[in-house]
Amino acid sequence: MIYAALKTLHVLSIVVWVGGMVFSHFFLRPALVQLEPPVRLRLMHDVLGRFFRVVLVASLLTLASGIWMIGRVAKQLVQSGARFEMPLAWTVMAVLGTAMVAIFLHIRFALYRRLDRAVAASDWAAGAAALAQIRTWVAINLGLGVLVLVVTLMRWQA
Ligand code: HEM
Repeated sequence: MIYAALKTLHVLSIVVWVGGMVFSHFFLRPALVQLEPPVRLRLMHDVLGRFFRVVLVASLLTLASGIWMIGRVAKQLVQSGARFEMPLAWTVMAVLGTAMVAIFLHIRFALYRRLDRAVAASDWAAGAAALAQIRTWVAINLGLGVLVLVVTLMRWQA
């Protein structure tokens, strides 16, 4: 029961995080390119600020629930006298998932702060540069997320 609840929380967090990246990267950003920089940057600043607040919680829930599930399985196996060997798909997920959280923290606490300062100062060139960097790192995180999903859901084994 606890394991199922953890897995549900884990997957729901991923749905919000990865789904939000898909929406922002493929639908929102292309639709805004024809707007003037001050309007576009203010809008993206506001949208991303709201999205990143939720992703901060979702990414930490993903990490915590993932580690908790591994801990539960390992404990049960060891208590029943068996050896715990982490499946390859779980190792890939844990390593890439942790990298995704680190990348998100860089986006939120370095790049988004730059965008924040630029918008506050009406420095649209600096704002556009910060937004371009955010876009690159979001694309990288999206690629990693899709890779983790494919490896996990296709049940690839060594
Ligand atoms: C942050 C580090 C992460 C850890 C430690 C972790 C760990 C785990 C563990 C132990 C499970 C249970 C697997 C099972 O019961 O078979 C699981 C399930 C799952 N994880 Fe992760 N995970 C992490 C990040 C991610 C990320 C970033 C994604 C996707 C982008 C992801 C997607 C999934 C999915 C879809 C499942 C359900 C698999 C299924 O039951 O078929 N996880 N995760």
